[in-house]
Amino acid sequence: MRILILGSGGREHALAWKCAQDARVTEVLVAPGNAGTAREPRCRNVALDIMDNAAVVAFARAHADLTLVGPEAPLVQGVIDALRQAGLAAFGPSAACARLEGSKSFAKAFMQAHAIPTAAYASFDDLAAALAYLDAHPAPIVIKADGLAAGKGVVVAMSDAEARAAVQDMLGDQVFGSAGARVVIEEFLQGEEASFICMVDGQHVLAMASSQDHKRVGEGDSGPNTGGMGAYSPAPVVTAAVHERILQKIIAPTVAGMAAAGTPYTGFLYAGVMIDAQGEPYVIEFNCRFGDPETQPVMMRLESSLPELIELALAGQLDRAQARWSPQAALGIVLAAPGYPGPLHTGELITGLDDEEGSQVKTFLAGVREQEGRFYVQGGRVLCVTALADDVAAARQKALTRLAALHSPGSHYRRDIGARAIARE
Ligand code: AMP
Ligand code: GLY
Repeated sequence: MRILILGSGGREHALAWKCAQDARVTEVLVAPGNAGTAREPRCRNVALDIMDNAAVVAFARAHADLTLVGPEAPLVQGVIDALRQAGLAAFGPSAACARLEGSKSFAKAFMQAHAIPTAAYASFDDLAAALAYLDAHPAPIVIKADGLAAGKGVVVAMSDAEARAAVQDMLGDQVFGSAGARVVIEEFLQGEEASFICMVDGQHVLAMASSQDHKRVGEGDSGPNTGGMGAYSPAPVVTAAVHERILQKIIAPTVAGMAAAGTPYTGFLYAGVMIDAQGEPYVIEFNCRFGDPETQPVMMRLESSLPELIELALAGQLDRAQARWSPQAALGIVLAAPGYPGPLHTGELITGLDDEEGSQVKTFLAGVREQEGRFYVQGGRVLCVTALADDVAAARQKALTRLAALHSPGSHYRRDIGARAIARE
């Protein structure tokens, strides 16, 4: 079996690494891939514009038995619809389903219609109306650009001035272009966040192991939001009771609601949830894909074959699937480029990548360029060192030890990933 994976981040490196472990998989093609997927056994990078549906279909028809998609942009643009129309096997949501991530106002209206717990909200495309709403709803309050804004379209405003500035930026000055031509303004939720990711076959659900991401750039959850500075699995805040509540109150009505609308959901479905002091979950956002960096620790704990689970999903038989998870904890720490998440300084040399890692530590690459056997910083999130160990504290220690042997001037990482879980341990 040959598998095509679209994307070029650490998530795609982890998915490719995991798929390549299935003995039936002869080759994993990653488009465009990165320096990590280029070096992974049985993986190969291919040059392909993943935003060109026709090109993806032509390539998949010639070279792949199954296509997986990492990032949201091609999904929102309908790459799965195009592959399916061509009769090709592809696991992911249709464009209609990907609106759960691609349009926050769609997602909020959907949740309201199906009584799925989420923050109260209103949506606006008129600046004066949005500002008038803020007059009646003081900070803290959350402002979100409706469309895809590369993870930057959310402002958690702790003051009224910040809230007004965010609305002015999006609706007045169009800083996110058409993605911010409409905004969702929603109630500020308190609690602890977790990432709840499932596989969905249109009807049945197979939950992946729970995880927790760390969005802020600085230790103690300080500084601006990023794409994610580290993640670990499992997330102890997702107790068995919370897990069941998320399935019953969030995932089941979402899957049923999409099916009832004539657009059954297939693919990975990611609910970012806030869990309050009573253990009640509220949806912060839906994503129509696996998380980055959640994929890295979650794939490290998955003992079942990922391609086998995906085949069951494509056959509509996820009710017969069981995923086996390592009882150990996995934790990934992201090394970020100088300046990230602001303007980047790229091009610095990275040393230490060739060191032996052993079976319980794995460095997944993202924004790395290889040239003549040397590695250089190319993107914001450079790599994610991921480790397995008996508990979260030990996994963090292993990851930190590995990171101490990697050097790249000016790059930075958080030493406190997993702090909430470790406090519980
Ligand atoms: P998102 O880009 O939607 O993942 O949002 C980025 C981050 O903003 C989330 O991970 C939360 O930490 C925070 N956030 C989003 N919506 C809310 C909300 N309604 N209440 C509190 N925090 C939120
Ligand atoms: N780690 C958050 C995301 O993938 O959106």
